[in-house]
Amino acid sequence: MRVFRTAAEYAGEFLAEARRSGASIGFVPTMGYLHAGHLSLVERSRRENDRTVVSIFVNPLQFGPNEDYERYPRDEARDLALLREAGADAVFAPPVAEMYPDGTPLLTKVTVAGVTERMCGRSRPGHFDGVATVVAKLFHIIAPDRAYFGLKDAQQVAVIERMARDLHFPVKIVPCPTKREPDGLAMSSRNVYLSPEERRQAPVLYRSLARIDEWLAAEPGLTAEELKMKIAENVREAPDARIDYVEVLTYPDLVPIDGPVAAAPRWIAALAVRFGATRLIDNRLFPE
Ligand code: PAJ
Repeated sequence: MRVFRTAAEYAGEFLAEARRSGASIGFVPTMGYLHAGHLSLVERSRRENDRTVVSIFVNPLQFGPNEDYERYPRDEARDLALLREAGADAVFAPPVAEMYPDGTPLLTKVTVAGVTERMCGRSRPGHFDGVATVVAKLFHIIAPDRAYFGLKDAQQVAVIERMARDLHFPVKIVPCPTKREPDGLAMSSRNVYLSPEERRQAPVLYRSLARIDEWLAAEPGLTAEELKMKIAENVREAPDARIDYVEVLTYPDLVPIDGPVAAAPRWIAALAVRFGATRLIDNRLFPE
C-alpha cells in the first residue's frame, strides 16, 4: 500500500500507472480515525474496482469556528495499519498546506443550494460548502471512476450527487448502508467523545428511528409533522439528549412533504442530537 502526501506524487507514481493499465479506481474519502463503517466502504470499493484509494484529511474548511476541528480524533498509524489489512492500494494523506496552499477561506468554493437548506445545512452554516469544495478538489486529484459515501451522512450523499451531476464530474457516486454497533448506535469517529453514561443513552437515536414502522402501521396517514413529534418525544426519554433537529423530508431533494409521509415515493427521517458537547446524527430512508 502506497502513502502519498502530495497530489503530484499521486499523479506521477500511481494514477499514471493505473491509467496505462486501464485499471478502474474506486475512491473512499475520509477524515480518518477509521472504524468498521469506513472499512465497509473500502471493502465495497475493492469488490467493484481494480484499485482502491482512500484519503485521510481532516478538512478545516468544513468545521465551524466553534466546532471540533482541533480536537477531532486522529491516529494515522492505526488508520494506515487498518487500511493495509483491508487491502487498500493507496492512501492520500496530505498536510493542510497541500490542500490549501493559500490558506483558508478560499477565493473559489463550491456551493450546492437547495439540498443544503435544512438539516445539518441549517445547524452548521458553511459546512457543506467546505465538504463540496474539498470533495471536488479530491475528485480532481484522485480521478476516480467510482466514489463511496456512507448513508450515515445522507445529506452529504445528496450534496455530492448533486454537485457531481451539476458540474459533470465523470464519477459514479455509490451510497452505502450505515454500519451500527450491536445496540444500534451508528458508528462514528465522534462516538469516542461520549462519556460512559452518554454512550449508554446514545442508542436512543436509532431506537426512535426504528419505531417509525410501528407508528406508521398503527396510523398509516401520519404526516411529517406528526411523525417528527413522535420521534422527538421518544428521543426526550433519554435524560441527557438535547435535540438539534428532527426532520422528515423527501429524499434526495430534502424538501417538506405535504400530507401523509407514506405517499412520498422516497423520504428520509433524520435527526441530530447533542449529548453534552457531542453532536450525533442518524437517519433512515424509506423505502430502505
Ligand atoms: P468521515 O466522517 O470520516 O466519513 C467518511 C465516510 O465514511 C463518509 O462517506 C461517511 O458517510 C462514511 N461513514 C461514516 N460513518 C459510517 C457508518 N457508520 N457506516 C457507513 N459509512 C459511514 O464524511 C466525511 O468524513 C467528510 O465529510 C469527507 C466526505 C471525507 C469530506 O471531508
